[in-house]
Formats: sequence, C-alpha cells, structure tokens
Amino acid sequence: MPKRKTALITGLTGQDGSYLAEFLIKKKYIVHGTKRRSSTINTNRIDHIYNEPQFNKKNLQIHYCDLSDSLSILSIIKKTKPDEIYNLAAQSHVAVSFQNPEYTSDINALGTLRILESIRQLGYEKKIKFYQASSSELYGLVKEVPQNENTPFHPRSPYAVSKLYAYWITINYREAFGIFGCNGILFNHESKRRGETFVTRKITIGLSKIAYGLQECLYLGNIDSKRDWGHAKDYVEMQWLILQQKNPDDYVISTGQQIKVREFLKKCATYIGIKLSFRGKGKNETAYVKNFIGKNKFSKIKVGQTIVRVDPRYYRPAEVENLLGNSSKARRKLSWKPKIKLKDMIKEMMDNDMNESKKQEILINHGF
Ligand code: NAP
Ligand code: GDD
Repeated sequence: MPKRKTALITGLTGQDGSYLAEFLIKKKYIVHGTKRRSSTINTNRIDHIYNEPQFNKKNLQIHYCDLSDSLSILSIIKKTKPDEIYNLAAQSHVAVSFQNPEYTSDINALGTLRILESIRQLGYEKKIKFYQASSSELYGLVKEVPQNENTPFHPRSPYAVSKLYAYWITINYREAFGIFGCNGILFNHESKRRGETFVTRKITIGLSKIAYGLQECLYLGNIDSKRDWGHAKDYVEMQWLILQQKNPDDYVISTGQQIKVREFLKKCATYIGIKLSFRGKGKNETAYVKNFIGKNKFSKIKVGQTIVRVDPRYYRPAEVENLLGNSSKARRKLSWKPKIKLKDMIKEMMDNDMNESKKQEILINHGF
C-alpha cells in the first residue's frame, strides 16, 4: 500500500479550509487542520466531517493554533510532518483590514513568514510543499483588464498590502531556500459556506430574511464594483493541483464570469421570483420590488416596497472596482476548468439561505 500523504491546512474552519479538507480526505490524505480559540463554537463548517461516515473522523485532526504564535506553528509542523501545507488562515475581510491594519498585517503577512521560517528551521525545505492563498486584491487599482500572472500589482487596502508581502515572501523562500512554495492568485469565490459579511452571502441572507419578513431592508455599499466570481469547491481543487506539479509556480485562478454587485443582487432576487428595479443615484440609490415573477410567494413583501438601500458606511476608503481574471496559464498547465456556473452557485446559496430563514420564521411565528 502506498504511504498516505499528510496535509496541514491553516484556517481549516474557514470556507476554503472546510472544502479543501473534504477534498483531501476523499483523496485519502490524512488531514491536520488548525483552528483558533474562540468564545463561541467556530467549527460549524467542518462538524459534518465528524458525523458523515464517508469522511471518517480519524482522517482529520484539529490543532489549536493562531498565526500570531510562532512557537505553536513550529511545534505543529514538527509534530505532524506534513507533505503539504495549505496556508489559508487570514484576517480575510478587506473592509475590516482598514480598521485593524496592524492585526491584519501580523496574521496575513508575518503569519506566512512564520510558517515558511518554521519549515526552514526544521530542515523541511525539501520535504514540505507550501501553498499560499494569494488574492486578486493584489491587482487593486488595476493596470489592465483582464489580469494575469504578469499584470503589475497595486494593492488598495491593508489586507491587500499584507497579502503582497505574503506573495513575495513565498517566492523569496522558494528562490533563497529551494522551498516548493506556490501562490494561487485566487479571484473571489463563494458558496453557501461563505462568511456572512462578504457581499454575496450578505445578499443571499438579506433577501431570504426579507422574503420571510425577518428583516425589512438590506443595506449595501458600492454596488457598482465588478468581481470575477467562482465557486469555492472548484477553487480548492486548484489549490491541490498547484502543489502536484513538477515545479513550483504561481497561478491566477478565476472563472472569467464577471458581473457587478448590483447584477448579483438582481439575479438572486430573480431566482426567488422578485423583479428588482433601481432608482436614485450614489448614496441615495435604492432598489424596490417592481413585480413578482410568476405567483407571489411572499405575503410579507409588496410591489413598490423598497428592500435595498445604499449605506455609505459600507463604502471603503479605497475601492477595487474591476477584477477580471485571465486564468489561461492554469487552464493550460493544470488542465483545469471550473465546473460550477454562476447561476448554479446562486441557486445553491439562495436555496440554503431561504431554507434557513423559513426555519427561523416558523420558530418565531409559530412557536415551535
Ligand atoms: P475565511 O472563510 O475568512 O477563513 C479564514 C480562516 O482563517 C478561518 O478558519 C479563520 O478562523 C482563520 N483565521 C483568521 N485569523 C486567524 C489567526 N489569527 N490565526 C489562525 N487562523 C486564523 O476565508 P476563505 O474565504 O476561506 O479564504 C481562505 C484564504 O484565501 C484566506 O487567506 C483569504 O484571504 C484567501 N482568499 C480568499 C478568496 C475568496 O474569495 N474567498 C480569494 C482570494 C484569497 P475562524 O473560523 O475562527 O474565523
Ligand atoms: N462586504 C461587503 N459588504 N462588500 C460590499 C458591500 C457590503 O455591504 N456592498 C458593496 N460591497 C462591495 C465591496 O465594496 C467590494 O467591491 C465587493 O462588494 C466585494 O466585497 P467582498 O464580498 O467583501 O469581497 P472582496 O472582493 O472585498 O474580498 C474578497 O475577495 C478577495 C479576492 O478578490 C475576500 O474574500 C478577500 O479575502 C479575497 O482576497
């Protein structure tokens, strides 16, 4: 029997960490993952791995670790001796990074250095392959559209600047110490497990709550920014593929399906049978129910009702307006192509959140 590979995932409890763990377990890896201590339970994205027999909990071991803590990083790598490390842990919220810039830099930039330096100090330069979760946010004030591996960077937030450091320190340790270190420059990817304060999930949750009368209005920031959106399940497969190549390299991962935030909002509303129309401009813009598509299923909302408003609180001090990836290198060299279409991702997210809101509404209004 060939020896099973071992992987260490930092940020196991996050969106990507949970999908990557499932993916690697199905590929017969032994997976170690890190979670951080929190006052409430933060393992809801991975709990099913312990409950579903197909995953078998022996395949997943969890370790407490914060990327600010060099010693714990070093000791987990020493103890688990992984073949592959996927560094997914991060303070990943761009808007929050403007309010917590030092913390964001410590975790995202120095946290990456701490892992690479631990690999080096342990003498594992030739043993461990390292994947760094780099970001299309690096392109920021974009120099060309679409963006590829050669497009110059212009980061626009403390988050993006911290990820720029992580991107370069990965390349530096590759060039200086021969570590098999790779960057996946990933464009936005979403799912029903996406954090609730990222715009796609905020929209799918918000519309669902409005539909069931649990919320009156959804407040958003800049609805004209454009993103290249894909599904997280497709993207974790790429993270793995990048480390299976003969040589370390950096890859743009994107679908090329670019739409504005407002179009994403409209598509989600349409999916549940609400035709939205916009009025006003800038911070005074709102969206109201123009009509229902088919039979109105929602007793709590009426034609003409305003259900979305722009709130400048959600504007960013510096915005990234136009992300569109050119992933032809990954498609050519890794023979990769995304499988999940935007419309199917919207269906998955809306179905999930409508179901949750329906349950909540029953609990609140029917007392059981
Ligand atoms: P996510 O859902 O926010 O997950 C981030 C993970 O990092 C969580 O497990 C989180 O723990 C953990 N974490 C946060 N601070 C930490 C700390 N101080 N020490 C240790 N762990 C910490 O992010 P994601 O969407 O899965 O993204 C995964 C990675 O890809 C991130 O590095 C992100 O910046 C990057 N990325 C994401 C996208 C995207 O569109 N999703 C695109 C490009 C790059 P808790 O669960 O306790 O919060
Ligand atoms: N979060 C949020 N909340 N964003 C909003 C809102 C709102 O109420 N209203 C409009 N937006 C706009 C943001 O200004 C941004 O232009 C766009 O929606 C997407 O915002 P997010 O979903 O927060 O994602 P992001 O693009 O800033 O960052 C995500 O993708 C990056 C890759 O490009 C994160 O996952 C990063 O970690 C990742 O690196």
